[in-house]
Amino acid sequence: MNVSKYFKRKPINELVGEAEESKDLVRSLAAFQLILFGIGAIVGAGIFVLAGEAASHYAGPAITVSFAISGLACVCAALCYAELSSMIPVSGSAYTYIYATLGELAACIMAGFMTLGSFLSIASVASGWSGYIQSLLADFGIYIPAQFSATTGCVVGLDGSSQVEAIFNLPAFFIVMLITYVLYKGIQTSAFVNAVIVFLKMSVLFGFIMVGAMYIDTTNWEPFIPKNTGEFGQYGISGIIAGSAMVFFAYNGFDAVATAAQETKNPQRDLPIGILGSLIIATLTYVLVAGVLTGLVKYTELGVAQPIAIAVDKMGLPWFSLLVKVGATAGLTSVVLVMLYSLIRVLFVISKDGLLPAFLSKLHPEYKTPHILTLVCGFLIAIAGSTVSLDTLVPLANFGIIGTFATVCFAALFLRYSQPNLKRNFKCPFMPVIPIAGMLILLQIMSSLPNITYFYALIWVGVIVLFYIFYGQFNSKLHAQK
Ligand code: ALA
Repeated sequence: MNVSKYFKRKPINELVGEAEESKDLVRSLAAFQLILFGIGAIVGAGIFVLAGEAASHYAGPAITVSFAISGLACVCAALCYAELSSMIPVSGSAYTYIYATLGELAACIMAGFMTLGSFLSIASVASGWSGYIQSLLADFGIYIPAQFSATTGCVVGLDGSSQVEAIFNLPAFFIVMLITYVLYKGIQTSAFVNAVIVFLKMSVLFGFIMVGAMYIDTTNWEPFIPKNTGEFGQYGISGIIAGSAMVFFAYNGFDAVATAAQETKNPQRDLPIGILGSLIIATLTYVLVAGVLTGLVKYTELGVAQPIAIAVDKMGLPWFSLLVKVGATAGLTSVVLVMLYSLIRVLFVISKDGLLPAFLSKLHPEYKTPHILTLVCGFLIAIAGSTVSLDTLVPLANFGIIGTFATVCFAALFLRYSQPNLKRNFKCPFMPVIPIAGMLILLQIMSSLPNITYFYALIWVGVIVLFYIFYGQFNSKLHAQK
């Protein structure tokens, strides 16, 4: 058995050449749209749903610090992404960076983590979307039958004292299939829809910061770091770290920008702007929103599914509460849109490389979109989002994304020293400090994920390796080249 081919690398110059010549995807995006794309993917369930629970169970008002720590780790990873994307502007993103640095098998494992992260994030966000839309509909007296209102097996309370076990989360299924349709039709439509939604959700969050700041009761910030209860992760310094692991989800998605490389007019210049711009805007917004949130409501009362809406209620402005729900629902919609878009692009590249069956990368004759991949991914995610609970989905999604970001930091470091003369339009500053700091913070955050998450992740890696051994290596286009 010749295992050396498992480590065969894609030559970077060839990759760049292929991408420049490729006519498969239409180049229509510029820097501003990329920033909107990044924000579209980033700002969602992490701030609208998980922030309250993280404050209430782990960090207290210091959840602002948790957001800052996760944001810092992501900025380190984003600087590495920016350098790599300016060197290798192809839509495979981290998968392709690893193909060029560590070889084919490692690239497949990386693809496995990226898929895990995106697939489960989208499914989780769809589940969060379902909660917000139902709350919004309830304000107008419209209710979805309880059996179809939550993921399979979840116990839902009915009026009075009775309860029922949910069969299927219909709104979660609906939103993923709706977005699948939008993506099936093509990027122009999707970019426009995304821009409108991003404007709406960011307006709501800025409104929350500006109006909320006037209603802050500073006694809610005391103590800023509640005393640890004696158990690791329950307040105190360890609580801040545990809070970071939970709200890390809020930053998933900035890497989606890198997957738009082949639909970007000037990728070497615009991808770094898109990646860093969207992440910095999101980080600042999160820290401010978290500060206002914990200033409006005592952290002990924030362990609810719609913390921002609860905080707005404290202001006594019912119309604003309605607006927040609309903004959150729209915001979660754009996360599903951009993350699904980026997942499909990565799988498209993998299929083109021969590591997934070729029929998956066929383009639609009229819309020029990878329509088969779009339908397959959309349907599978819709099923996951409507049947599996958030508690299972979120930590595993975080594992996939943290692993991806840490490996990207490593790849940037490796390439900087192994191939220092390659053309880089953007250079990560303070080498090697930034990638090393990024890896260390990311691994620290990862270490506080539950053990069961590691177990599932190991099974997934096993599946990927077996798929590569029995299918990928025999169909790899790189191996076919002489
Ligand atoms: N960052 C995305 C969100 O918070 C996944 O919804």
